Amino acid sequence: MSFDLVFFGGTGDLTWRKLMPALFQAFRHGKLPAGGRILAVARDQRSDDEYRTFIKERFHEVDSSKRPSDEEFARFAELLHYRRMDLSQPEDYAGLKGWLDARGADTVVLYLATSPHLFPAICEQLGAAGLNAPHIRVVLEKPLGHDLASAQEINRVVRSVFREEQAFRIDHYLGKPSVQNLMALRFGNALFEPLWRRESIANIQITLSESLGVGTRGDFYDRTGALRDMVQNHALQLLTMIAMEPPSTSDADAIRDEKLKVLKSLKPFTPESVARDVVRGQYRAGSVGGQAVPGYQQEVKVPAGSHCETFVALRTEVQNWRWAGVPFYLRTGKRLAARDAQIVVNFRPVPHPIFPGAQRANKLVIKLQPEDGLELHLLAAKGSGTSEALAPVSLDLDFDKAFPTERVGAYERLLLDAIAGRLNLFVRSDEQEQAWRWVEPILDAWARERVSGGEGPRGYAAGSWGPAAASALVARDGFAWSEEQ
Ligand code: BG6
Repeated sequence: MSFDLVFFGGTGDLTWRKLMPALFQAFRHGKLPAGGRILAVARDQRSDDEYRTFIKERFHEVDSSKRPSDEEFARFAELLHYRRMDLSQPEDYAGLKGWLDARGADTVVLYLATSPHLFPAICEQLGAAGLNAPHIRVVLEKPLGHDLASAQEINRVVRSVFREEQAFRIDHYLGKPSVQNLMALRFGNALFEPLWRRESIANIQITLSESLGVGTRGDFYDRTGALRDMVQNHALQLLTMIAMEPPSTSDADAIRDEKLKVLKSLKPFTPESVARDVVRGQYRAGSVGGQAVPGYQQEVKVPAGSHCETFVALRTEVQNWRWAGVPFYLRTGKRLAARDAQIVVNFRPVPHPIFPGAQRANKLVIKLQPEDGLELHLLAAKGSGTSEALAPVSLDLDFDKAFPTERVGAYERLLLDAIAGRLNLFVRSDEQEQAWRWVEPILDAWARERVSGGEGPRGYAAGSWGPAAASALVARDGFAWSEEQ
């Protein structure tokens, strides 16, 4: 199967930092279908060779273990091409079409790695140039919109040009191997599914914490904030995978129908519940890994007095028979104590303890990063001495060790899926809009608070686990965040 993969925004950060290294890995692993061409388009004039050199130099900035040798890069570089394009000029799209048509690949993937505000205009131009035939797919990077109305507007334009099955909305968390393992754990094994419900589960916690700050992205971040950057997409997507009913098949729409039902079952926020169940924070100066780091408002391109949240913790419920009354806690933030992405399923304690000592309920930890694995925490008899008290033990499954040669990174997986036309791990427009619909009352409440001169997010020291109010949110229900258990 021949393919052409076109990156709009071909010299941008996303392309050289994430997409090209991911493609290179796919190439190195022999997973990239033969007969492919990769075309980068951007505004400035460069030759193919100049572009290849540009990418090669950038590869030195990415993880050194993944860096290609000169010989390997030279083979990969044969796939790379470059084309100057002014994205506002119809004739440049006609030129692109000519370039693509001259070869007539079986599949064309147009990856919009540009600023999202350009998506509608680019899609309209693609449609006008006839670059929307059925063998053409469009990949859209987040953030898709800033709120429900802007997301709907992007989707309206995308739908007016492409059919839904041609639109691949990326949420790179769905490409992480552990997320696929979550599906395997739930629907490829019979062990957990009977327990996967309110009768056995006390609460579920999703933590996406980062130790890094906003770096040089202060201007983007300040317009976005943690709720839009991480909760509306990554955290909610993980929640849907945890809470969804078993789909009847593994087809993309069967899966996405079930995910959508979860989003529609989430307890809607009201102004009162935002005040009660959502905690937002902003990092102040502190220390991360022994290094002193500045506060958010001292970061470059962040305006003084900013009310932008760099931390969110919230409590919600999935209002259906399976999950009624089970709290789902989501938490994400920058400059937290550790880089950690995990889902913790806390089971209920035994109904009638017969062993002495502290009782501890079982928990299942699905680890997305830094490692990728599963931990099942149990209590066991130590077998030493005469005490009957039980001791905690855990069964650890390290996927990197279990499948050492087969792991592929998130972008690598998603790029290969887009080329192959597999939509399972991409977000459908109705899911994405429903996620916006759910977060919008929170955004509205914060906007109202701002207008009425409210204090904004609570400060937390860089290197901590966020404001104390986040612990109180969970403690109110008689629980604790995983690291406090
Ligand atoms: C991106 C956010 O979507 O995800 C970033 O825009 C964040 O702010 C990143 O740092 C986290 O991704 P990962 O894969 O490093 O956890």
